[in-house]
This record gives sequence, C-alpha cells and structure tokens, in this order.
Amino acid sequence: SRAKTLLGIESSCDDTAAAVVRGVPGEMTALSSVVYAQTDLHAAFGGVVPEIAARAHAERLDVSIVAALEQAGIGLDGIDAIAVTCGPGLIGGVVSGVMMAKGLSAATGLPMYGVNHLAGHALTPRLSDGVAFPYLMLLVSGGHCQFLIVHGPDRFERLGGTIDDAPGEAFDKVARLLGLGQPGGPAIETISHEGDPARFAFPRPLANKPGCDLSFSGLKTAVLRARDDLVDAQDGLHEQDQADLAASFQAAVRDSLVGKSARALERYLSLTPDTPTFCVAGGVAANMTIRGGLETISGEFGVRFLAPPLALCTDNAAMIAAAGIEQMAVRAPDDMSLSARPRMPL
Ligand code: KG4
Ligand code: ZN
Repeated sequence: SRAKTLLGIESSCDDTAAAVVRGVPGEMTALSSVVYAQTDLHAAFGGVVPEIAARAHAERLDVSIVAALEQAGIGLDGIDAIAVTCGPGLIGGVVSGVMMAKGLSAATGLPMYGVNHLAGHALTPRLSDGVAFPYLMLLVSGGHCQFLIVHGPDRFERLGGTIDDAPGEAFDKVARLLGLGQPGGPAIETISHEGDPARFAFPRPLANKPGCDLSFSGLKTAVLRARDDLVDAQDGLHEQDQADLAASFQAAVRDSLVGKSARALERYLSLTPDTPTFCVAGGVAANMTIRGGLETISGEFGVRFLAPPLALCTDNAAMIAAAGIEQMAVRAPDDMSLSARPRMPL
C-alpha cells in the first residue's frame, strides 16, 4: 500500500509532543519528533499537578505542532491523517490534544484517529525496528507496568501487570525517602553503582504466585522500614547506607521483573512465533541493571531482546503517529464523537 504521512499529537501526562511519521505498517520513519517536557513546571510540587499540566498543554500544543511540521519540512497539505492520544491520562491534557486534533481535522478535512497511549508504547518496536507480530512487550514507566503479547495493530493480549504501584513510581518514591532528587530512577541508578545490592534482603512480592502479576508497594514500605531502623540506630543515614539501600531496592525490582518475564516468555513461546522477540518500552527501560536482567533471561529462552532508543521509549508523539499508520490499515477513522478518556483499557 502507498506510504502515508501522519501528524501525531500527545498530551496525556507531562510532555507536550507532536511528530510527523511517514511509511507503511512495519516500515516507518519519524521525520520529526518534538517533545516539550514540563518537568520544570512541576518540580517544586514533587509530582505532576494536573491543572498546571492542562494549562501548559493548551499553551504549547500549537507551537509543538508548528515545530514538528517545520522540522519535517512539510505543511498540513502534506499530511494524510492526524493521530491523537485520546486516553488514558490526565484528562485536562488529553482533552486539549483531542480538541486540537478535532479543530485541525474540521479545518482541513483530514481523517483523524484516536490512539490509546498504551497502544502507542506497545507499537513502538514497529516504528524503531519493524518487529514482526506477535512480539512480547514489557511496558515499564512511571505510570504503567504490564506484559502484553502484541498480536496486531489493535490486538493486545494482557498477560499481567502491577496490582499497585508502577516501577517508575516506586523508584521516584524510594528516591524521595532516601533524600535523592527527581526523577528518582536515574538518581537511584547512579548512586547504586557505589552500593551493595545484597546488603538488604528486600521482598520479591508475588514471586510464588502463578501468572505475570507484580507488586511494588510492599517493596517501597520495606525500604522505608530499613531506612528508619538505620536512622534510629545510628542517628542518621550514612552515604554508604543510602547507596546500599538504593542498590538493594534496584536489585529487587530487577528480580521481580525478570521472574515474571520468564513466565511471560513461556506463555509467548507457546505461540511458536517465527522470530521470537521480547521488547521493552517506558522510562524504566533506561535502567541498565533492569535491562541487563531482561536481556539475560531473553537469552536463556533463545529470544531476541530489543530496547528501542530511549527517545522513543519515553512519552513522545512519533509513537502515536506510528500507531495511527498501523491502525489506519485496519480500521476506519474516528469522527467528531471521539471522546477523551482518563481511563482506557487496551
Ligand atoms: O515513560 P516515562 O518517561 O513517563 C511515564 O511514566 O509515562 O517514565 C518515567 C519514569 C519515572 O518514574 C522515572 O523515575 C523512571 O521512568 N526512570 C527510571 C530511569 N530513568 C527514568 N527508572 C529507573 N532507572 C532509570 N534509569
Ligand atoms: Zn507513557
């Protein structure tokens, strides 16, 4: 089929993003990908403030779209369709993006596709490497944690996921209670290099429960308790304690993810895929200890391990445009009744 050029729009959390992607399903190129992070706006509040996020999206969506078109070297007349995140996410941001897409679609007559943010993440390996269906995906970010078998552009089989916190959220909370800065993931990874991952035997929750579900809130509590014991015993936290707590926590997250990955790989391989591939996406995929563990377990199962470039793993609009290209081959566009949804299963 003829190559399509899509404008993608993403505004579901704290990144305002627009991108232009061109190609056919499984063979796509990002011509541009603009991401305006709001980290600085939320920094003082210790988390994303929905009202501030919504206002920032409303103010920046137009300039991000103009920048994405400019960087791609085309105008709206060179676009075949618009893909926009319609959920799940913070509703003020999602509404801003959907309204923008509807306005553009009404003004230009271009077809519009509402894309599930999670489908965008899950289909990223199609954009980065043209990975063949079905592949196994572990989505690990600040807000999400789930194992999916991706059968097609709109067919996702959920094998399991977290029953409480997402791993990135746990990294951020543990960083806070160790007195480290945000985002917590990179801070914990850095300090862990100086720490002993075996000093604290933190739990690997649900390890013996069948299936692929995970839990991280008990782990966070265990770190808190160990920290308080040290503070009480020695009147403060030494630098080495901090590093050992971080390293032991990180090892526990890795072991939990690796253990459940083994289960997910078993399920996936029972489908006898031609070119078995295990992909990760989401910000936590940046962690080299976790990535190393996932790579090793993939090798043990004889499965190719793939981590797309980080810029495509964290929130961006290229993945939304790519999901649009994948989905327009199998379904009709959405109309003006498209709604923005805070919750939206795959
Ligand atoms: O995918 P992402 O950019 O945003 C969403 O959550 O949607 O992921 C951000 C999360 C944060 O919680 C951050 O602490 C975590 O990913 N993260 C990491 C690392 N880099 C980012 N976690 C562990 N190790 C890292 N190196
Ligand atoms: Zn995301």
